This record gives sequence, C-alpha cells and structure tokens, in this order.
Amino acid sequence: MDKNIIINGNCIEELSKMKENSVDLIFADPPYWMRTEGKLTRVEGTEFDGCDDDWDKFSSLEEYEQFTYQWLNGCKRVLKQNGSIWVIGSMQCIYTIGAIMQKLGFWIINDIIWHKKNPTPNFKGTRLNNSHETMIWATKTPNSKYTFNYKTAKELNLDTVSIDDYNSGIRKQMGSVWKFSVCSGNERLKNDNGEKLHNTQKPQELLERIIAISSNKNDLVLDPFGGTMTTGAAAKKLGRNYIMIEKSEEYCYYGKIRLSSVVFENNQIASATFDEKPLKVTLKEMILDKYLIEGEWFYLKDGNKVATLCKDGKLNYNNDIIDIHSCAALAKKTKATRLNGFDYWYVKRNDELVSIDNIRENYRAYKIAK
Ligand SMILES: C[S@@+](CC[C@H](N)C(=O)[O-])C[C@H]1O[C@@H](n2cnc3c(N)ncnc32)[C@H](O)[C@@H]1O
Repeated sequence: MDKNIIINGNCIEELSKMKENSVDLIFADPPYWMRTEGKLTRVEGTEFDGCDDDWDKFSSLEEYEQFTYQWLNGCKRVLKQNGSIWVIGSMQCIYTIGAIMQKLGFWIINDIIWHKKNPTPNFKGTRLNNSHETMIWATKTPNSKYTFNYKTAKELNLDTVSIDDYNSGIRKQMGSVWKFSVCSGNERLKNDNGEKLHNTQKPQELLERIIAISSNKNDLVLDPFGGTMTTGAAAKKLGRNYIMIEKSEEYCYYGKIRLSSVVFENNQIASATFDEKPLKVTLKEMILDKYLIEGEWFYLKDGNKVATLCKDGKLNYNNDIIDIHSCAALAKKTKATRLNGFDYWYVKRNDELVSIDNIRENYRAYKIAK
C-alpha cells in the first residue's frame, strides 16, 4: 500500500479501497456540522470569519449520523487490531460521534479536553464562551494492545507541571485536560492571495502530542479529513508514515506544499526512548560474568548483613533459599510478600556499600557494548 501520500477524494470511498487492518493510528477531525447561521459580529463591529463552509453543511441529524457511521465504519475496517483512533469534535457533534463509535464496537479509553488558551469570545455575551473541544481516544476492541508511550507523555506534560518544576526535573502523569492555543499567526496556512486557507486548521503541537504518545516511529498514521494536512506534518516531523485523505483539491494543493517543507526531527520524543524497556538481565548471568560473586553477603542500606548469594541468583536467608524480592520483604519485615529487591540490596566493593541496581546498570551497559 502506498504511504506518505495525499489522496484527493471522498474518505468514505477512499477508505473502502484501503487494505483491511493496515493502519496503526487514526486521527479524524470531521465536519462538526456547526449549524452557523447569519453573521457573527465582534464587539467592535467587525465580522467574525467562523466555519460556514459547504463541507460542514448537513440537512438533518439523520444525514449527519449516516455520514458519521459510514466514515467511522471505514476507519474501523482499516485500523489494525492493536491500533487506536482519535476523533475531535465540539459540543455540536461529539455526542453523536461518541454514540456511533460505541455502536460500532470501538472501546473508548479516554476523552480528552483540549482547553483553548485563547478561545473565541461569545460576542453577544448570551452564554459561556466555548473554550474547549473534546477528543475521544478509542481502540478497535476492548482487548486491543494499543500503543501508549506513558513516559513520553510524562515528558510532554506541561499542563500540570510548572516550568520551574519541570526544569528542576519534576514529571507528572499526563492528564486528560490539555492546554494549547488555537492555531493562529504564522502557523495558519495562507493561499496565494495571502488569505486564510482553512477555517478549522488545528495546532500542529496538538497533533504532535497525539502522535508521539500513541504511535511509534515508522507506524502508519491515517487522517480521513486532511484539511491543511496538520496530521501529515506532525507525522513526518516525528518519523511516522502518513496517508491523508481530503476532498478539496485546493486544500490538497496547499497541503502538499506544506508537507514538502517538513523534515524529520530525530529526538527522544520521536523515538519514545523514555519508554524503551531496559535490557533484561538475570542475577545468574551477572554471577557468571563476575559482576556479582557467589557466596558474597547481601546487605540492607543500614549496613546490616542479611543473606548470601547462591550460584543460581537466589539468596540464602537463614538457610532458606529464596528470590531477592521475597527476601527483601522478609528482611524489611513488611506485610507485602515481595518488594523490588533491586531497590533494597547492597553488596560491598572496596569496603563500600554499592546498590545491586547500580551493578545491574553497569552490567547492562557492558552487555549492550559487547
Ligand atoms: C475539520 S476540517 C479538518 C482540518 C484539519 N484537521 C487541519 O488541521 O487542517 C475537515 C476537512 O474534511 C474535509 N472533508 C469533509 N468531508 C469529507 C469527506 N467526505 N471526505 C474527505 N474529506 C472531507 C473538508 O474539506 C475539511 O478540509
């Protein structure tokens, strides 16, 4: 299947031509059916240019539901068993979309609030201003083993950590309220006349976050409603492949130019190195390679000599032969039956206590270099 392409067409038809179970991640920013009527005027009298495009018009709820069912059904078919899908929407559409996703058997794993730092005001002051949009993150089935780069998400979380704390090394679990500004200024694509190209261009930062945390390098990312190709730009920058579908020839034309100028930026976020699983090594191997010594004493942090190391990596604790984790729990006299032994045990090197976790790190480095 071709990748890194823009397909100019109707996504319902184009999805039906794609291979089943072929896509790792989908981001969909469908028409919201905003139902805007008449002109919106700012307080100072200028006209507000909202989303009144033909592509956002539907004649009835039934028509919108049928359209939503069809494109979501197409997405479900092409999504891999362990893939995931993000759909963004506003109050006008997200409930309809969510209900149809559930009918189709998608399994919702989160709904995320994109809290806009600079929302459009409610000009007339007749109700609250809409300062957020909602994203639904879902998998194909309840059992899908979807990608979630948990530690990468922590690295990207500045929503609940202040800059000062972040710079001093504090990281917190990412939550479901994200703060981004709406797309504005130089980021907004312009046509050759210098006019705003698209009414609903999404901030690239938002897409970069989604792609970084829910896919891996070289994965295939699909966006059935490409618009200005924000998803493709974020995917290319992070070293993912993309397929973008968009029915407007004009958006495809400018989107292609946009994508041609994006370059892959190889960094720890793109590679999700924070989430890489460390090399698995056993105590037995460490003894064989002389990083640990059969018969040596294992100490607690306070210098208390507790158990001796057996040939197979277990500990001799008062003549009981047990693993390092159960032995840590016994030695610490906790209610738990096991503690992580690498957090508790020390050996002596040059008369100094050295954590076996440090010894394991050195051993891993030795094995990787070998
Ligand atoms: C909400 S906008 C997407 C904006 C995009 N995320 C961006 O950042 O620029 C929806 C887009 O879907 C396109 N569209 C609407 N119906 C479509 C369909 N059936 N097939 C393909 N594209 C469609 C519209 O032309 C519009 O550009």
